[in-house]
Amino acid sequence: MKIISSANYQPKSNLLIHIDNPHITDFLDTNQQSYLEQKKSDKADLITFDFSGYFIFVINLNHSSEDKHIVKEKYRKLGSKIFASLNAEKHTSVHLSLENLEQEYVLSITEGLYLGAYRFTKYHTEKDRNKSYLSEISVHSALKQSDLDELNNIGKAVYFSRDLVNEPLSFLTAEQLGKEIKKSAKAYGFSAEVLGKKQIEALKMGGLLAVNKGSFDPPSFSILEWKPEKPRNKQPLIFVGKGVVFDTGGLSLKPTAGSMDEMKSDMAGAAAVIGAMQAIASNQLNVHVIALVPATDNRPGNKAYAPQDIIEMYDGTKVEVLNTDAEGRMILADALAYAKKYQPELVINLATLTGAAHMAIGPYGIVAMGNANEKTKQKLNHSGKEVYERLVEFPLWDEYQDLIKSDIADIKNIGGRVGGAITAGKFLEHFTDYPFMHLDIAGPAYINAKDAYRTQGGTAVGVRLLYHFAKNY
Ligand code: BES
Ligand code: ZN
Ligand code: ZN
Repeated sequence: MKIISSANYQPKSNLLIHIDNPHITDFLDTNQQSYLEQKKSDKADLITFDFSGYFIFVINLNHSSEDKHIVKEKYRKLGSKIFASLNAEKHTSVHLSLENLEQEYVLSITEGLYLGAYRFTKYHTEKDRNKSYLSEISVHSALKQSDLDELNNIGKAVYFSRDLVNEPLSFLTAEQLGKEIKKSAKAYGFSAEVLGKKQIEALKMGGLLAVNKGSFDPPSFSILEWKPEKPRNKQPLIFVGKGVVFDTGGLSLKPTAGSMDEMKSDMAGAAAVIGAMQAIASNQLNVHVIALVPATDNRPGNKAYAPQDIIEMYDGTKVEVLNTDAEGRMILADALAYAKKYQPELVINLATLTGAAHMAIGPYGIVAMGNANEKTKQKLNHSGKEVYERLVEFPLWDEYQDLIKSDIADIKNIGGRVGGAITAGKFLEHFTDYPFMHLDIAGPAYINAKDAYRTQGGTAVGVRLLYHFAKNY
């Protein structure tokens, strides 16, 4: 997909135009104009004219009384709707003539078109099946080509992140994830170091190694870094992403029907931080950012770690394992403890960590918690609204710490019946000594059916959020 700035419009090709555009009458005959007037009074958001061979789409979104972030989301959705019409007729290009629409909204429509056009067809033998035909969006507006390039880079990063989530374990092992990170690093100019099993053993990352014990495939631990010459921040901003490439639950095997069916997506946190790094590097943001990705699958092999095992973690904490399905926190704890050596200004952790977070708010938002200051929380919240990956804050009160006390070790890896998302967050917090935010994306990371521009499968939730946050950092 390519987004280009262009004032020119090819006659008899797909055109998107705003209803207030004075030139609109050039394109429509009198019948069509009266149809348009009627639709306008019906308050239709989008009026489509099918000229058999090409479309003219007229935008008529009314939004005087709404919050800007709500309106932006409406425009994104409109973009994906327009994509669907174009794709049904196998169109490869569309021209947006939107010089009289606010720039932010032009970007939103374009974003919706772009993200709605994503497909994962790598494993389709028949190449035309469920194909996406659109390859060029040309935009005539007040936006500069550099604004469009930025969006292009974000779109690419979202596609990459969705691909990673959609890839099954048969391709995307922890080692392969490291290779994908290296490829992106090389292409977009950030650095990446991928540690293998020997190095992880030498570091004594006990949590990551414990989860990996039942596996045939080795773990990996990746360190991604984007460091511009004179960054705005003195100390790095760090992203940590859960990279469980498949979660069977381990010996505490996932029990109920269907509960394992989407678990290739248990590395969506990793995919989010990797995609965000790609977006940040390709747009050359002036912020020093590091991403840490601990990765392994979780399965009940011969040597699998067992309930009641006591694991010595990277930072020396002894953890009593009472459920091997609470594996995300085991591998993230080592990454969070490792992050201390950078003396970060802020660490943001992304993980498909708990079913409890998913159940609490569904796919509509992110369960957030942390001890960062109010200003940071506000900024993160603001980014969440702007990209429409909204945050709901859960508390990290001291009382929850009591729920993960262990009789036999320092802490245990499950908390009991209440506050499952929070006790997981408390567990993570134990391994930090810096301002920390944890985003549980178990709800929005993966969807079974498409929701406008969020295509079926991996959504890449977190990529646009982290990018927006870093840009405004
Ligand atoms: N990967 C799961 C969480 C999950 C569940 C993500 C559903 C997406 C959708 C995680 O590793 C897990 O199994 N968590 C357990 C923790 C429990 C054993 C304390 C859970 O939430 O049930
Ligand atoms: Zn699990
Ligand atoms: Zn998991």
